[in-house]
Amino acid sequence: MSPKLPPDEVSTAYDVWADVYDSQTNATRDLDAIVLHAQDPALFQGDVLEIGCGTGKNTEWLAPRARSVLALDGSENMLKRARQRPGVQHVRFLQHDLRETWPAPDASFDTVTCNLVLEHIEGLSFVFSEAKRVLRPGGSFFVCELHPLRQLQGKQAHFMNPQTGTLQMVRAHLHDISDYLNAALSAGLVLAQAQDCRDASDPRTGVPRLLALRWRKP
Ligand SMILES: C[S@@+](CC[C@H](N)C(=O)[O-])C[C@H]1O[C@@H](n2cnc3c(N)ncnc32)[C@H](O)[C@@H]1O
Repeated sequence: MSPKLPPDEVSTAYDVWADVYDSQTNATRDLDAIVLHAQDPALFQGDVLEIGCGTGKNTEWLAPRARSVLALDGSENMLKRARQRPGVQHVRFLQHDLRETWPAPDASFDTVTCNLVLEHIEGLSFVFSEAKRVLRPGGSFFVCELHPLRQLQGKQAHFMNPQTGTLQMVRAHLHDISDYLNAALSAGLVLAQAQDCRDASDPRTGVPRLLALRWRKP
């Protein structure tokens, strides 16, 4: 069991971002939804754990498709927005820091989905070992994140803070592609799919915006 962590600057920043997360222009958020919707529908028909659900843009899409959804996030204000989405009455929302043991029994989910969260978590190995723990054999861990090549260009999560009127960067950590692959390998997950995702308007030579990876628990 990991120790209880105090609220950190990431959840404090998202508590502010919550008010404008859905309304401000955000091509990364929008492409993530497109990528998620393009996945094999069978991935999201069972018991789904969504980690870092935010304001619930993906939760609202998952809710009518899945047998059950548990949605975790560290920011109470993001969760407050998510709970107000239509059609999510049967979703269980919980405030939880993903760096602590997840509130879920072993082998209790068919799919874990994680969208635009891991840049905020420095060490990936705990997240991957928790994903492996809570998945049933044959279950999938789907991750869609800001592409490491974009991170190397200096891109990171940011928003126009409505309280200060200034651009606010949210604390982020660089993850190379090998960091994701090695964290999954150490956890005992098997790579099933990899995608470099560009905006529809971007040329083939453009740096991909998102990296989407899917692993299976043997
Ligand atoms: C960019 S938002 C993505 C929200 C949603 N998945 C989406 O695609 O729109 C990142 C979310 O991750 C959450 N988050 C970041 N670090 C976290 C942590 N250690 N524990 C729980 N949630 C965390 C934030 O609170 C925020 O809601």
